[in-house]
Amino acid sequence: MKSFLAYRIGYGEDAHRLAAGLPLVLGGVAVAHAEYGAVAHSDGDALLHAVADALLSGLALGDIGQYFPDTAAEWRGLDSRLILARALELVRERGYQPVNVALVVTLDRPKLGPLRAEIARTVAGLLGLPETEVGVSFKTSEGLAPEHVQTRVTVLLERADV
Ligand code: C5P
Ligand code: MG
Repeated sequence: MKSFLAYRIGYGEDAHRLAAGLPLVLGGVAVAHAEYGAVAHSDGDALLHAVADALLSGLALGDIGQYFPDTAAEWRGLDSRLILARALELVRERGYQPVNVALVVTLDRPKLGPLRAEIARTVAGLLGLPETEVGVSFKTSEGLAPEHVQTRVTVLLERADV
């Protein structure tokens, strides 16, 4: 059913277990100095997964697992930028576009501050937004979950014809 709301809020989150010897990618950016990487069926980009889920949730379109089941062999090692592109396409097909997005990553190590601008720029590019519309926050778990990455994302969607 078509929505007539001018603005809609979306929220998404994701978590992955971390293990030594695996790559860590967040927001489409490789975290080169990470000791641990994400254990995942896809490329394990927990930030892009949460962005994609936020987009879908804003229009009550379910979640990425429905579009990219993690049991399907064809999605093994999948580039999460493709997951995000599909979610964005679904949003646009329904006549909406993202306005701004807030990203939170909880990770004990390494420090991500040096990557803040690159993550903002990369996610902005993937969403077709200026980087001023992408907020990026980092938190530690204060040692509660050292082998774990958690992401939380809100997005504001606007009806394109408003
Ligand atoms: O979680 P906490 O409040 O202790 O985080 C302190 C600071 O460390 C924050 O300003 C955050 O930007 C930064 N941080 C970071 N990389 C992380 C976790 C936190 O740069 N992986
Ligand atoms: Mg994930």
